[in-house]
Amino acid sequence: MCGIIGYIGNRNAAEVLVRGLHKLEYRGYDSAGICVFSKGHLDVIKTKGRLDKLEQRLSGTSLESTLGLGHTRWATHGEPNDINSHPHLSQNGKIAVVHNGIIENYRQIKEFLCDKGVEFQSETDTEVIAQLLAYHYKGDVMRALMTTLGELEGAYALGVMCADYPDEFFAARKDSPLIIGLGKGENFIASDIPAILEYTRDIIIMEDREIVHITRGQAKLYDLLGKTVKRGVFHVDWDAEAAEKGGYEHFMIKEISEEPRAVRAAISPRIRDGLIDTGLSALSDNWVRNIKKIHIIACGTAYHAGLVGKYAIEKVARIPVEADLASEFRYREPIVRKGDLAVVISQSGETLDTLMGLREARKRGAKILSIVNVVGSSIARESDAVIYTWAGPEISVCSTKAYNTQLAALFSLAYDLGFRKGKLSFAGMMAAAKSLLGLPELIEKVLLNREIIQKFSAQHFNAQSVFYIGRGIDFALSSEGSLKLKEISYIHSEAYAGGELKHGTIALIEKGTLVICPITQDNLLEKTLSNVREVKARGAVVMAVTPERLAGAVSDVADAVITIPDTDSIFAPIIAVTPLQLFAYYVSVMRGNDVDKPRNLAKSVTVE
Ligand code: AGP
Repeated sequence: MCGIIGYIGNRNAAEVLVRGLHKLEYRGYDSAGICVFSKGHLDVIKTKGRLDKLEQRLSGTSLESTLGLGHTRWATHGEPNDINSHPHLSQNGKIAVVHNGIIENYRQIKEFLCDKGVEFQSETDTEVIAQLLAYHYKGDVMRALMTTLGELEGAYALGVMCADYPDEFFAARKDSPLIIGLGKGENFIASDIPAILEYTRDIIIMEDREIVHITRGQAKLYDLLGKTVKRGVFHVDWDAEAAEKGGYEHFMIKEISEEPRAVRAAISPRIRDGLIDTGLSALSDNWVRNIKKIHIIACGTAYHAGLVGKYAIEKVARIPVEADLASEFRYREPIVRKGDLAVVISQSGETLDTLMGLREARKRGAKILSIVNVVGSSIARESDAVIYTWAGPEISVCSTKAYNTQLAALFSLAYDLGFRKGKLSFAGMMAAAKSLLGLPELIEKVLLNREIIQKFSAQHFNAQSVFYIGRGIDFALSSEGSLKLKEISYIHSEAYAGGELKHGTIALIEKGTLVICPITQDNLLEKTLSNVREVKARGAVVMAVTPERLAGAVSDVADAVITIPDTDSIFAPIIAVTPLQLFAYYVSVMRGNDVDKPRNLAKSVTVE
């Protein structure tokens, strides 16, 4: 999604802005630009393309300025081109705006302003904000901003400069993330922490419907009515490396390699005296005992984690669970009752479809528990209870360690709920806690065997189409394996329930078709092996991922076997997914793709 940075201080603003935008590249973008206050007016330099193009444009200028806004655009309204890039200026050149989000009533506002004689340059919704601000501006930017925001419908993270204000700028947010960075004699705004981490670790997380007025000496928060808002300062304890590659070739392989640490961070703090406690104190024992149904709401990888969570919660806690794609849940008039629990899963905590799914579930009476990685994100703040996954920053667009930690959170939740509903004994809980604590070490062992997976990738990186088949929780796992491959290798792939093959899809299997098959559930071993035989009989090449205890039986059938350490079968996906992530990674690298920034994709999809 779009990236925003704003700066006021004593450094060269253009330099600070461009450096910050580089740190936000992971969000995905197609154009970039900055606006600085220079010699009494607002200078805008912007271009379609990557940041190096913007830097070329800037090298021809001598912008002496200590105040500015920067933006990387992921196109939503209007194709990627120079004119549609941000920042956008009002017609009179007095107001400059950068924006992340979508203004849903921009057409009506544009028509109104055109009737007033305003001439628009671009096709964007963002320019409407700049023009409307200028229309309302009568010398007081704060007042004009409050009036303007009151007329906008939709999502926005905004940076605003005014040519009459040489020593201050403004920002506002609703449904799109925005943070304030507090320095010494300098202050910042940014879409995400990495953009300003080299300058300050003290940040304020803006809430929805807030405005901030920023000068070199202070950042004052207000609500939309102009009332002062007090907010605590959050100290970022990540080291700079955490947001950098740390010596790995790509963020993705770094983040896969971090999985043992990330899963440990997600599990260990939640196990005390042998008991799993996911910190659901916000949900009383009585309320938990009476939960009627759980709705899991998420997108993409988070949704696939939710599919695994469905199996785990139903198996352990015996509560009915329905897992929905957030974009479907929102519009299907879901049957949600008071007493239901909505489990909303999101790495970024900003995915708009998921946030709107959360609001839909709340509107229909559910209590909200979110499983989120980004502290203080919109989804976290709108929840009754939050299980943070503490995976650390996940920069690669392709979600990996976030999935593993989401599973860790879901397994913990399944046992916590099951124990509080009296579905398992103290001994059962202790045994599960012990197994959970052992998972990071088992993932470590999988990572030690990455060369085997790399070799297998070298044999198949030119595959035309790849099938992932599995049964039960392995089908949920297959869905995630297939998405990993699709999104970074651009190879078509499909996940299929093994028992469904004979109902149509097996017609697609021919000589040389690659089939990847997680086989981690003892009770489904024979059924799944018969599916492997079915596809092999039609010429498929099969790679299985299976625990050591099943490797003998599986090796008799599959062409290649990746063995993973034994653990409780319910926890197997958290280990078995790592070979699937590595396979996708190596195939993408061998195909020469931009692994961390795959085409057409963004790290956080904050638009519909
Ligand atoms: C997964 O690799 C993708 N990046 C994408 O499917 C992602 O999982 C999805 O957009 C949900 O993002 P979230 O977890 O931040 O809500």
